[in-house]
Amino acid sequence: MADRGRVKVGIIGSGFEADIHAASFRILPEDAEVVAVASPTKGHPEALAKKYGIAHVYHDYREMLKQKDIEMVTINAPNHLHCAMTRDIANAGKHVVCEKPLAMTLEEADEMIDVCKKTGVLLMYAEELLFTPKYVKVKEMADQGAFGKVYLVKQSEKHFGPHAGWFWDVSKSGGGVLMDMGCHGIAFCWWFLGHPAIKSVYCQMGTYAHADKTKGEDNCICILEFANDAVGLIETSWAKRGGMDDCTEVYGTGGVSYADLHMGNAMPTFSGPGYGYAVEKAPSTQGWSYPVFEEHWNYGLPQELRHFARCVRGKETPMVTGEDGRVVQEVLYAGYQSAGTGRKVELPFRPKGVKRPIDLWRKPVA
Ligand SMILES: NC(=O)c1ccc[n+]([C@@H]2O[C@H](COP(=O)([O-])OP(=O)(O)OC[C@H]3O[C@@H](n4cnc5c(N)ncnc54)[C@H](O)[C@@H]3O)[C@@H](O)[C@H]2O)c1
Repeated sequence: MADRGRVKVGIIGSGFEADIHAASFRILPEDAEVVAVASPTKGHPEALAKKYGIAHVYHDYREMLKQKDIEMVTINAPNHLHCAMTRDIANAGKHVVCEKPLAMTLEEADEMIDVCKKTGVLLMYAEELLFTPKYVKVKEMADQGAFGKVYLVKQSEKHFGPHAGWFWDVSKSGGGVLMDMGCHGIAFCWWFLGHPAIKSVYCQMGTYAHADKTKGEDNCICILEFANDAVGLIETSWAKRGGMDDCTEVYGTGGVSYADLHMGNAMPTFSGPGYGYAVEKAPSTQGWSYPVFEEHWNYGLPQELRHFARCVRGKETPMVTGEDGRVVQEVLYAGYQSAGTGRKVELPFRPKGVKRPIDLWRKPVA
């Protein structure tokens, strides 16, 4: 395939993750350039465009899809919009990068995969933990046999709750912290272990700190049993005080590794007056704090988006696709069902007609 230069990217959304995508493309600019942004709130996409030098601004993403030179579109909008946006992007003949979680339901995930296949575009699932340098190093060591047979992978992400109102509204998010952050750990453990079949899912969850503002769970423990006899343990919380935690632990018959994403990279700091920014979701910079440096890079976001751009040019093959997102979606269903019944749920588990994964917690299927 002839190289047509940098992949032209359109960004949907102008909030938290859209900003990260724009920043990430600027950190690694060789393979892609952002040429347009679309978001409905007047003033917001304009501000993002000004900050990152993006040439075109739209308030309706469907208008952006008419811009001919755009080849790849990244979706950074609330979860309930992912499916319709993917359909529109694919029908406009552009490649899709969809933020996690892939969709609200398995039917939506199927539709997204089908429409991208039919229109011949790539559906790439934005799971940055597969690109997080510290975690990639742990996987490299595991694959070299450093830990013998790996029997347990733990992944946890915790903070005191999301930044935007729609996350708390389960009709837009589909669920609470399992849906929002457990999706990272599920995708990660499965990938880390080399994609073995997932046998069963067990979850415990509750709403401990935020019952005043959400029907979603704000703390969850999820155990996955894999066909290769390894176990994944995913701990997620929106109820944990003190800013963001992101950790992976790997236990094997021959070794162990502890990877703490933030603390390992931070400088324990005390400041009386405070300062600009410490780390995602940090409540304050006064007193003790743990500032990170190169935050986007340490998460792997520029590396992830560069990989997707290179896939569009045929230089690499997508490491994480709509099919992976669908597996995560099935585990999310099983997790809520398990929390609702108090029992382990065997896979495959594909109940039809579920509107939101969290409904299976409150009302499990028979
Ligand atoms: N990979 C990660 O670690 C990570 C982190 C945060 C968010 N996300 C995901 O990114 C997505 C967006 O989350 P966020 O934190 O940026 O939320 P946000 O609330 O900060 O931003 C959402 C954006 O979507 C826009 N939007 C709403 N309706 C729209 C529409 N009809 N057309 C176009 N734009 C529309 C809003 O105007 C806003 O700019 C979610 O799916 C979330 O799960 C992923």
